[in-house]
Amino acid sequence: MLHLEFSANADTLKNKVILVTGAGDGIGKQAALSYAQAGANVVLLGKTVSKLEQVYDEIMAQGLVEPSIIPLDLMGATPQHYKDMASTIKSQLGGLDGVLFNASLLGNLCPFEQIKASEYEEVMQVNVNSKFHIMQALLPVLKESNAASVIFTTSSVGRNGRAFWGTYSISKFATEGMMQILADENKKSSVRFNCINPGATRTNMRAKAYPAEKPESLKTPLDIMPSYLYLMADASKSVNGQSLDCQPK
Ligand SMILES: NC(=O)c1ccc[n+]([C@@H]2O[C@H](COP(=O)([O-])OP(=O)(O)OC[C@H]3O[C@@H](n4cnc5c(N)ncnc54)[C@H](OP(=O)(O)O)[C@@H]3O)[C@@H](O)[C@H]2O)c1
Repeated sequence: MLHLEFSANADTLKNKVILVTGAGDGIGKQAALSYAQAGANVVLLGKTVSKLEQVYDEIMAQGLVEPSIIPLDLMGATPQHYKDMASTIKSQLGGLDGVLFNASLLGNLCPFEQIKASEYEEVMQVNVNSKFHIMQALLPVLKESNAASVIFTTSSVGRNGRAFWGTYSISKFATEGMMQILADENKKSSVRFNCINPGATRTNMRAKAYPAEKPESLKTPLDIMPSYLYLMADASKSVNGQSLDCQPK
């Protein structure tokens, strides 16, 4: 599979402006660094400003294109925040060529009947509703790019429901659905939409879901970057409406 062996160089994403949500930690942090190393002008969106600043510092220390920081809590942000973000990106960075929807909440793993309504709403707000509003605001800007890529992050529980994975699983099914609708509607445009399933990866979220697991047994975010780079690069220009696995079984 091409995406598993993809290797980027310092020019692969040159002149591309790429927004990464949840860029301060875990897979999003590594993706932001890897995209910057491939020449992209990265926009770091996240909740914890100190974490975003650390990623900013790492990118600058490597002498890469200076990134931007958008401190935003996807739980509380309104459609107006996203409209303002779209016009700021357009006016200050000249456009947008890619979005990696990476930020997500796991919520609590428990039987369906015990899911708290308030928690259901919070997880759906961050994992699904924010993507809807961000896409509505950014799609017109993305369409101005010659070749734009939108990557949604899915999970194996977004393809097959699994007991006790509750709201997270429902939110990932919704994510797959949103990707498919956008991919189908826009197949004649310059914007492509795909999902990526990282598979078991060494992050805080994975440790929360599987507390007894040995982290050393898992792939690191860096290990799975070839697929993230492939889907963002022009090499995947003709790929639309797919759901790729970084760690196929
Ligand atoms: N790790 C895995 O094994 C695995 C497997 C399948 C799918 N995934 C998916 O991969 C993606 C990344 O997961 P990860 O393991 O890297 O998770 P993580 O370590 O928990 O990182 C999640 C990121 O999302 C941000 N975030 C959470 N809530 C937010 C909010 N309300 N507003 C803005 N940003 C917010 C976090 O910011 P703060 O740090 O500031 O809270 C953090 O940067 C997720 O979509 C996850 O569902 C992961």
